[in-house]
Amino acid sequence: MNKFYSYGKQTIQQDDIDAVTEVLKGDWLTQGPYVKQFEDDLSEKFNAKYVSAVANGTAGLHLIGLALGWNKDDIVITSPITFLASANCILYSGATPDFVDIDHLTYTINVEKLEEKIIFYSKQKKNVKAVVAVDYAGLPCDWEKLRELADKYNFQLVNDNCHALGAEIDDDPEYACKFADVVNMSFHPVKHITSGEGGAVLTNDEQLDEQIKILRTHGMTKDEKYLTKNEGQWYYEMHSLGYNYRITDIQSALGSSQLKKLDRFVERRNEIADYYNESFSGDDRFIIPYVEKNIKHAYHLYPLQIKFDNLNIRKKSFFEKMREQNIGLQVHYIPVHTQPYYKNNFGFQEGDYPIAEEFYKNEVSIPIYPLLENDDLDYIVKTIKELAK
Ligand SMILES: Cc1ncc(COP(=O)(O)O)c(C=O)c1O
Repeated sequence: MNKFYSYGKQTIQQDDIDAVTEVLKGDWLTQGPYVKQFEDDLSEKFNAKYVSAVANGTAGLHLIGLALGWNKDDIVITSPITFLASANCILYSGATPDFVDIDHLTYTINVEKLEEKIIFYSKQKKNVKAVVAVDYAGLPCDWEKLRELADKYNFQLVNDNCHALGAEIDDDPEYACKFADVVNMSFHPVKHITSGEGGAVLTNDEQLDEQIKILRTHGMTKDEKYLTKNEGQWYYEMHSLGYNYRITDIQSALGSSQLKKLDRFVERRNEIADYYNESFSGDDRFIIPYVEKNIKHAYHLYPLQIKFDNLNIRKKSFFEKMREQNIGLQVHYIPVHTQPYYKNNFGFQEGDYPIAEEFYKNEVSIPIYPLLENDDLDYIVKTIKELAK
């Protein structure tokens, strides 16, 4: 059977299988020691004082909104070029979502336009409560500027870091918790490391972490400082409405095992990206991702822009023809504000964020994952060049 290439795929090796098997033979499948171990490993790797591993990245974002106290009077801003979850978490808490267009070079939130929007709201005596900035595809946002704006205009700064594990700013792989108040990660199989499903919330804020940990397990607490009475060892109280957003020990063991290999995985992703950059640059049918000198891209995705307007083939048939050649492309993303739910409930329209919309017209996520070999890359590049006519 011919190989099939999808845009992303996990790398599972014998040590990962052994790590999971070990848990299956033990006493705890969930709520045991591996969850804490995974949290400690993440804490060390990303230099976060506090980590809560959770069921998935979406659950992490939901908990972040709850713990940050978003409510119906709040405006929370994100980028239109992201997965639905970055915006949906704003709706879960009843806050009002808004967007700021992307920068045409980096595809991350445009910080100048963000400041304009904040000023626009403040003239109407409305405050922006939080910004969920997304390190799209694995490229860090302009975090220095975002931190400056957060301090100047007093908003909460969330890094939806799901694409960017292993990225660096100025050689610093720990930038996420340095700049943002709270950071969200996902360990879905297409991400850099996987725990099957899984996510984590990282912060240096003790109180925020405490809230996240209470909310991820039904809002239950046994902490003396919250209890109104204590009837015995079994006793717990609920003071806020939480969820079951726990991760299992099975998943956590896989997560810890994968985390050891993150650097290697990101190196291979960079080698693949270098190969693609070289292959597609200088050909005016294509625009390759832009990366500033002080940035290390983590390449969760390789977003290639293809100028379909100048070609005979349409994007839809390009996808179909690529699939016939066993290459499964994806698009990241359909701009969130153009989703019917966002249009119907919040009045967003096509044309609101033209750079994001133009990007969507051209963007194609081509396969990038560590298991791809150089022969695979030759085949993928050759097929794209042959069909993009
Ligand atoms: C930017 C971003 N945020 C959040 C999520 C949600 O993560 P999960 O799939 O683990 O719920 C994803 C997942 O694709 C994502 O890409």
